[in-house]
Amino acid sequence: MATSRVSKHFLFQLIFLALIAFNRANGRSLTPDFYKHTCPNLVYTIKTVVDEVMSVAPTLGGPLMRMHFHDCFVRGCDGSVLLDTPNKTEKYAIPNLSIRGFQIIDKVKSAVEKVCPGIVSCADVLAAVARDVTVALNGPSWEVEFGRRDGRVSTVNEALANLLSPFANISTLKQGFQAKGLSVKDLVVLSGGHTVGTSHCAAFNNRLYNFTGKGIQNDDADPTLDYEYVPKLKSKCKFGDRNTLVEMDPGSFKTFDLSYFSLVAKRRGLFQSDAALLDDSETRAYVKLHALKDKAGFFKDFADSMIKMGRIGVLTGTQGEIRKVCTKVN
Ligand code: HEM
Repeated sequence: MATSRVSKHFLFQLIFLALIAFNRANGRSLTPDFYKHTCPNLVYTIKTVVDEVMSVAPTLGGPLMRMHFHDCFVRGCDGSVLLDTPNKTEKYAIPNLSIRGFQIIDKVKSAVEKVCPGIVSCADVLAAVARDVTVALNGPSWEVEFGRRDGRVSTVNEALANLLSPFANISTLKQGFQAKGLSVKDLVVLSGGHTVGTSHCAAFNNRLYNFTGKGIQNDDADPTLDYEYVPKLKSKCKFGDRNTLVEMDPGSFKTFDLSYFSLVAKRRGLFQSDAALLDDSETRAYVKLHALKDKAGFFKDFADSMIKMGRIGVLTGTQGEIRKVCTKVN
């Protein structure tokens, strides 16, 4: 009798500990109030620096939003994308070489360290910056959850293994999101981030020339790309050009709006991964619906999905550390 009471007690303890571990891994212990007492002016401090930067360099909004995504998909949102050991850390992996704005995170972190030294993680700074740039680009706002801690590990190979390719098809994209606990809806909603920013020709040049192997002299573009759009893209990206920057949402690449979905619906999404959203019934339905209207719906969805993304694999409690400088472990 006594033994069974002890083992029941032990079982409850185990379940309790397992629940805590599960909640942490899913970011359930993050909260908007995390720094309420330890750094009450945090949100204001970050926003002030971001607004200053965005008023002079609005094109940094895109890469800073993307940086949070690339942080979260590799080892969770733990600031690992910010660590800087030349040729070794995540930021040296090919998909991260096109990310700009690391110096802005350093600038924000210095401002935060001045008001609350040693309190706020770089991973949290990055999550708040992603929200603030979205707002500065006229996009939605959301309450950023805090309480992440910074990781100490960052490798090129893990970035290569976890970041999704612009050449990916719909099943690879769905699997990639599912592996991070994100849904098919999150995939289509967050792809809407491509309403802002630019891309290098390298990410879609393959769709313009010699796509099926007929030779570059021939009109051999990706047939899923609007054929009237192809000459426009070719005039920007010549054969073999990898470096020219192209607006992903021409005409409104500095404004967070619905036009990404109308582009994709018209088969003018830049990447194969954008076009792939028409290959699944759920993502296609979302694209078609939001191509027309429902800005409020998309804004709410984007906010919800960003919060969810910000919970991926976070370190909390006594895990990891609070880095003093975002580019280096303490
Ligand atoms: C679904 C899988 C995704 C793929 C394959 C993908 C791929 C890419 C690629 C190749 C670029 C162009 C980079 C360059 O050449 O400079 C890009 C840009 C961008 N991506 Fe994504 N992306 C994905 C999802 C996301 C998500 C979830 C977000 C944010 C919520 C996002 C936000 C952005 C932004 C804002 C830019 C513009 C960056 C700039 O202006 O420098 N992307 N993405």
